[in-house]
Order: sequence, then structure tokens, then C-alpha cells
Amino acid sequence: MSYIIVLGNEKGGTGKSTISMHILVNILRLGASVGTIDIDARQGTLSRYIENRKNYIAQTGIPLPQSEHIRLYRSEAEYSGDAKNEDQKNLENALESLSHKDYIIIDTPGSDTYISRLAHSHANTIITPINDSFIDLDVIMQLDSLHDNLKPSIYAEMIWEQKKERAIRNKQSIDWIVMRNRLSNIQAKNKLEMESILSLLSKRLGFRFSAGFGERVIFRELFLKGLTLLDLEDTGQTLTLSHISAKQELRNLIDMMRLPITHDKITTV
Ligand SMILES: Nc1ncnc2c1ncn2[C@@H]1O[C@H](COP(=O)(O)OP(=O)(O)O)[C@@H](O)[C@H]1O
Ligand SMILES: [Mg+2]
Repeated sequence: MSYIIVLGNEKGGTGKSTISMHILVNILRLGASVGTIDIDARQGTLSRYIENRKNYIAQTGIPLPQSEHIRLYRSEAEYSGDAKNEDQKNLENALESLSHKDYIIIDTPGSDTYISRLAHSHANTIITPINDSFIDLDVIMQLDSLHDNLKPSIYAEMIWEQKKERAIRNKQSIDWIVMRNRLSNIQAKNKLEMESILSLLSKRLGFRFSAGFGERVIFRELFLKGLTLLDLEDTGQTLTLSHISAKQELRNLIDMMRLPITHDKITTV
């Protein structure tokens, strides 16, 4: 059985695809095999990222590790019942065809779709990146100015439902990790407030939260070549201090995920 990691957040542009790519390359470099499924196929960021990597390898001859990838489009069936059946069948087929892999990573769209809910229900780990603002917190919990009237968002309720689904289906649990992404050096007061709210929410909603990744230009530059922070040395690029810090942030995330198989090897990457 593959270990399934789902990147999800009902908001676009929070870093799901970028982080999917970094997690998958990190796991490959730990020596495990990885299959990837892009169910945000229309936007196709992860698919294009992986395609760019393939082209880079072909052009340079540098043998970088790759995943086996499936780009899964949503059903175009006219009736919603037919569309749901087709989506379910397609996702199950994709999971089945990658079931020989140690890990399967699923990148999802920034919107609520049936296939995205299904993908969440198959997860061993769900990672929800949020940007460093109170607007983004709304994706997991609706806050008022005094923080005394907390109401889980539709997305948090959906994860709750999928946790129940999974427990019924095979008595397994889902580890939900909320991570901050694109952290900037905003005022210390705002930062502390975010941290205390996140720690309060993590207890209420049952997620663990990770310090996350800083805002770094390198993430935007890597996409076109299909590279990640972990490929810089192999491709002859000099690491700056910022790259080293970013790699450390990635390592912290992977470590926090407590992945099976690779856990004892993680610290050596
Ligand atoms: N830590 C980061 N620092 C700087 N830019 C980032 C970071 N994470 C993501 N980005 C950029 O933000 C944009 C959205 O990221 P993406 O991974 O496509 O988000 P999503 O998949 O959630 O829509 C991309 O241009 C990406 O390069
Ligand atoms: Mg995306």
C-alpha cells in the first residue's frame, strides 16, 4: 500500500504545487519511489513543473530523479451523478496504477470539487499551506475580531468528514498539517498573533502546524527548469545562504511528517 500525501487548500496560490514538487523530489532523493497525480489538471501547474523537469533532463543529460505522473482531468459528463461516478473511477484507477510506488502525492485545485474531496479521503497526510495573513486563516476557521466566536470553515469541516470516511473505510487516521508559506518579516506583533491563533486552532480542529517556508525568489525561478532546491548542487549552481535556509525549512517539514520507511534516513538528505 502506498503512503498517500495530499496537498490541499480551497484557495489558489498558497503554494500547493510548489510544495508538492519539493516533497516529491525530497522523497525520491531519500531512495523511495513516488507516483504523482495532478487533479488540478486544468491549471496543471504540477504537471507543467514535472514536464519542465523532463525537458531539462533531456536537454542537459543530468539524471535527476523523477516521479511517475498522471494528469487527471475532471469528468465532463453532463449529469452530476455520472460525473461523480466517472471521477471516482478515474481516481481509483490512477491510485491503482501507481500502487506499486512507496508514496503517492496528489496536488489538488484551489476550489471545492468532488474529486478533491475524494482525494482527501484517501490521504495518510494532508498538507494545507496558508499564506501569512489573517485572510488565509479564514480558509480553516472563520474568525471575528475578538477570536471568541470561532467557526470551522467549510474546508475544515470537509477534512473532518474525510477523517470519518477514512476511519470507517479502513480504520486509518489522517494526519493534517497546516503550514505557513511565504513568511515575510512582517511586524513581530502580527506574527505572534498568527502563531497564538494557529496554536489555538490546531487544538480545536486537530491539525499540527509547521513553521513553514519563507518568502523566497528562488521558488519562482525554479519552476521553468523543473528544478527544486534539492537539485541546485547537481545542476552546478552555487548555494546562497537563503537557499540553505530554505532547504532547512523543507527538511523540517519532511521531518515533521514522520513518513514511514524513510524516517531514519531523513536527517541525512
Ligand atoms: N515560499 C515561496 N516564496 C516565494 N514564492 C513562492 C513560495 N511558494 C510559492 N511561491 C510562488 O507562489 C505562486 C503560487 O504557488 P503555487 O505553488 O502555484 O500555489 P497553488 O498550487 O496553491 O496555487 C507561484 O508563483 C510560486 O512560485
Ligand atoms: Mg496549484
